[in-house]
Amino acid sequence: MKLTLNGKSVDVRAAGDTPLLWVLRDELGLTGTKFGCGLGLCGACTVHLGGEAVRSCQTPVSAAAGLPIVTIEGLAANAAHLHPVQQAWIEKDVVQCGYCQSGQIMSAAALLGKQARPTDAQIDEALAGNICRCGTYERVRAGVHRAAELAAAKGGK
Ligand code: FES
Ligand code: FES
Repeated sequence: MKLTLNGKSVDVRAAGDTPLLWVLRDELGLTGTKFGCGLGLCGACTVHLGGEAVRSCQTPVSAAAGLPIVTIEGLAANAAHLHPVQQAWIEKDVVQCGYCQSGQIMSAAALLGKQARPTDAQIDEALAGNICRCGTYERVRAGVHRAAELAAAKGGK
């Protein structure tokens, strides 16, 4: 089947009920999206599907066909133009071990796509399903606020 992945059309060979996460990592080699629980509980596998943050471990690849998929590898236009969330994550030194962070970033980016200036409560609600065993939640929240500032500044130029 054909997928639209990070702005490109790709052909994949997989049964329709194969989790999108498996296709991304095992067939396409996009290992930035992480396997955590495999049960839709941790958020490590979060990608964007049609602009929404989804758990790719719980998304059959057949459900992804026909919708734009964005993974952490496709979030920035290029290395010189990081997404505001990525830039903010660096500035705020959000990451500890890093395992959960591509999922955190994808959820944060999806939130900012809908809510330009989210409150603490909206951030906590949107990222509630993204578990961090290192406990970076305070820095994640600060990173989202900083990303909102960066996006606003970019939009104003
Ligand atoms: S690996 Fe998908 S939610 Fe945990
Ligand atoms: S940074 Fe280690 S699990 Fe979140």
